[in-house]
Amino acid sequence: MKVLIVGGGGREHAITWAVAKSPRVDKIYAAPGNAGIADYAECADISVMDAEKLVAFAKEKEVDFVIVAPDDPLAAGVADAFLDAGIKTFGPRKNAAIIEASKAFSKDLMKKYNIPSAAYETFDDADAALKYLETAPMPIVLKADGLALGKGVLICNTLEEAKAGVKEIMQDKKFGSAGNRMVVEEFMTGREVSVLCYSDGKTIKPMTSAQDHKRAGDNDTGLNTGGMGTFSPSPFYTDEVADFCMKNIYQPTIDAMKAEGREFKGVLFCGLMLTPNGPKVLEYNARFGDPEAQVVIPRMKNDIIDVMEACVDGTLDKIDLQFEDNAAVCVMLASDGYPVSYEKGFPISGLEKFAGRDDYFAFHSGTKFKDGKVVTNGGRVIGITALGADLVTARANAYAATEWVDFDNKYMRHDIGKAIDEQ
Ligand code: AMP
Ligand code: GLY
Repeated sequence: MKVLIVGGGGREHAITWAVAKSPRVDKIYAAPGNAGIADYAECADISVMDAEKLVAFAKEKEVDFVIVAPDDPLAAGVADAFLDAGIKTFGPRKNAAIIEASKAFSKDLMKKYNIPSAAYETFDDADAALKYLETAPMPIVLKADGLALGKGVLICNTLEEAKAGVKEIMQDKKFGSAGNRMVVEEFMTGREVSVLCYSDGKTIKPMTSAQDHKRAGDNDTGLNTGGMGTFSPSPFYTDEVADFCMKNIYQPTIDAMKAEGREFKGVLFCGLMLTPNGPKVLEYNARFGDPEAQVVIPRMKNDIIDVMEACVDGTLDKIDLQFEDNAAVCVMLASDGYPVSYEKGFPISGLEKFAGRDDYFAFHSGTKFKDGKVVTNGGRVIGITALGADLVTARANAYAATEWVDFDNKYMRHDIGKAIDEQ
């Protein structure tokens, strides 16, 4: 089988690694891919948003199966373009990817179908939002409606901060058109956990749990980023919590999408808060998380193509989804200055130490080839993932392996997985 993977970050690198393990696959293409993905795939320099070129490429190469991994192309209907051209494609259609692409949509869906989440109001107009905030309890959470690289959420402790937030989102348009509408949400407290689920539109199967670290600095200080590290599983996600979420969140969400005529096939990522009043949904994503994929996929026992194909074919109920009884930690090596401003183009050394291993991984997020050498090409550069018998061992292994790799301006958090010690 010939497979095309659309995307070029660490998540796509982890997916490509898993696809390459499948005995059913004999050729992999990636668009655009990156210097790490190139170990397994022939990379084509096509934008993830260029549906026309992507479909033409898939036809020319006689691709049998496409995986659309990032949020932007899913929200723009790139999966639809492949499906409408008769190519088997993993990833939700645009009308289902809206569950991530519009926070107002997802909040309204949860309200209509009684799925536990924070109380909220939606605003199209800055003046109305400001008036509402005058009497709202603080802290409060402001969310740009649309896609904003995981950065369109502001937690405001005071009315002054909230007013400044409305200005940033709705008036200064810091997140572009994502801020034409805004959701104002009740502030919740508790442990956060990410549960990525496969779905074929009827059946939903949760994967093992994970936790992300979104802030740039140690002890959750600094700006929000795309994700500075992850661990899996979450020790706080007990069997009891999992049962509750299956009954009250996962299955009801898939059923709600079906009832709305928006059948969801692909990965539904549920960002949860384990509040004192039970688990509640923080957000949905319509795809694997990045860097959640980097700790979840290496622990999966199944052939990823079997599972993804079952999602497309509507036969997920026949799949026995299994994960290793171990743990994984991913520490993101970033460029100093991320997420604000940083330099690119520095050569990366030490990557050869990961070659051929299936216990330590260097998943490339932002890299490229320059004069035959791998160089830094983004804020997040490489996710160092290690497995271990338990979380403490996996974390020690991952931090040890961060020393194997070097480049100028290398930056990382030193407390990924700190919550493990508090269980
Ligand atoms: P989101 O992109 O919606 O997941 O939001 C990013 C981060 O903001 C989450 O991971 C939480 O840490 C925080 N957050 C979002 N919504 C809330 C909320 N209602 N209460 C408290 N924290 C929140
Ligand atoms: N790591 C969070 C996300 O992928 O949205």
